[in-house]
Amino acid sequence: MVLVSTSVVCLQHYPQPAKCSPYIKQCRRSDPGLTDCLKEALQHLRPYLSSGIPEIKLPSVEPFVMDQLSLQLTGGPQGYRINLKNMEVFGASNFTVRSIKLADGSKPFETRLTIPRLTIHAKYTSSGVLIIIPASGSGDFDAVFEGVTADVKGLVSTNEKPTGMHLRVEKLDLNLSIKKPRLSVSKIFNNNRILTEATNLFLKENGHEVLRALQPQLQKKLSSEFTGIANQLLDNVPIHFFIVD
Ligand SMILES: *[C@@H]1O[C@H](CO)[C@@H](O)[C@H](O)[C@H]1NC(C)=O
Ligand SMILES: *[C@@H]1O[C@H](CO)[C@@H](O)[C@H](O)[C@H]1NC(C)=O
Repeated sequence: MVLVSTSVVCLQHYPQPAKCSPYIKQCRRSDPGLTDCLKEALQHLRPYLSSGIPEIKLPSVEPFVMDQLSLQLTGGPQGYRINLKNMEVFGASNFTVRSIKLADGSKPFETRLTIPRLTIHAKYTSSGVLIIIPASGSGDFDAVFEGVTADVKGLVSTNEKPTGMHLRVEKLDLNLSIKKPRLSVSKIFNNNRILTEATNLFLKENGHEVLRALQPQLQKKLSSEFTGIANQLLDNVPIHFFIVD
């Protein structure tokens, strides 16, 4: 017998083996090394996340596009504020799965990923006063984050569809830890060299503080983006295509 899912993900032959789309690496439920197999299956997705998977309408995550972040970086009415727009994040698909723990009853699944280098390019506008310089400007913003660890915890639900049982990520909690942040601005409006230098000095000296201010919004955006990606995949691929009996 041959089963064909709606979006041609797997041709399931009985008995095994099933012939699946190349981005699916199957694991056996009875495998004592199931956790390691799932780690590899997740890792196996990397190049496909990078290029996108047209057959299930999953766009490429390189770059990963985020709309907007706003930060107040120094206090007071004239505080230095920045706004980042058209953010493009590169490197997210280049993760290594360090650990994985499956959901168990009401306990969430957990995974730890590391990414050697994440870069962000964005359009920058600023206002307020920086040190003693009026800091209204706009230009390009770049961030290079080296040594990124992402701890992810998520709750999943199950959903029975004509194609079989599907998982759905309901809630995703994500914590980032970044060893080395490097932030800079360039091409500031009117080529304002003094403002550019003052801003870059501030970002260099306060990299970790700026990162701390940026982090909650970044984590929230990344977790909602990751939820979207995971659900696009899970909505199209029933769980028995990933884990066979
Ligand atoms: C991906 O990570 C490896 C090390 O894990 C690194 O050598 C490579 O340059 C990275 N590629 C990109 C596109 O960041
Ligand atoms: C993130 O950090 C908070 C506070 O330390 C903690 O309560 C939460 O469990 C962490 N989440 C993950 C996914 O590690």
